[in-house]
Amino acid sequence: MRESRVPWNSQFVPCGISGTEFTEYAAHSPMRKHTKLSCKDVIPINAARMFRNPAPVLLTNTVSSLIESAGRRVLEVGAGCLRNAIYLQRRGYAVTVLEVKGIELRFPEQYDRFKRSGGKVLYEIPNDRFDWALSTFVVETICDVRTRTALVRAIRMQLCMDGFCVFSVRGPKDLVTATAEGIPVSDGYLTPGRSFARSYTRSQFERMLHTCSFDKLTFLHRERVKAPEYLHVVASFH
Ligand SMILES: C[S@@+](CC[C@H](N)C(=O)[O-])C[C@H]1O[C@@H](n2cnc3c(N)ncnc32)[C@H](O)[C@@H]1O
Repeated sequence: MRESRVPWNSQFVPCGISGTEFTEYAAHSPMRKHTKLSCKDVIPINAARMFRNPAPVLLTNTVSSLIESAGRRVLEVGAGCLRNAIYLQRRGYAVTVLEVKGIELRFPEQYDRFKRSGGKVLYEIPNDRFDWALSTFVVETICDVRTRTALVRAIRMQLCMDGFCVFSVRGPKDLVTATAEGIPVSDGYLTPGRSFARSYTRSQFERMLHTCSFDKLTFLHRERVKAPEYLHVVASFH
């Protein structure tokens, strides 16, 4: 296990636990139960992977009609392979992406195409205002709770007065493998693929967003679904 703290931004560095150590560690449940690792002990691998289609939340009736009538300046935080950013760009939005360094090396073609069509890629929180923002399956992949909260607060600060942010995060039903086979770290798990993941229940995510000054929340799952696979939320503050 590594001794020095390596920031989450150090993408593509293999986790501090080797493959064999992981298998042994994960296989011995007493160890798993009695050892609590923090994000200082591990270096999770970036969870971004290739998807052909935009995130499901963008295709819901609620979100597609909301963004139809919203302004054109969009900030996507944690855009990964750019599946959402390119989809929105093709529909006439001016998209700025906030990502971590190194991500372009994983999806060079997509980043090149996006930038050639006028898309902006930033590695630091911009000093700008956006009509709305989007962040799908990002928050729950950030191991350090303070970094995670700071990022959501930063999104809130980038929005216009009548702006909103569309979030998707994984619910407990979608994280069965990590919960069963992963290593407990911080408030989630290092998955067998050695990325970090935690899930959010509706009330946990509500609390998180309220802490970050998003006080008006519209959850998109049906009221009677108590434990949705994914949480999709439109968050605003007006
Ligand atoms: C699981 S991927 C999701 C990508 C994309 N949103 C999607 O739905 O396909 C998580 C993404 O969040 C990015 N990310 C993690 N920490 C971040 C941070 N502090 N600031 C910006 N992006 C971050 C990762 O680089 C990665 O691309």
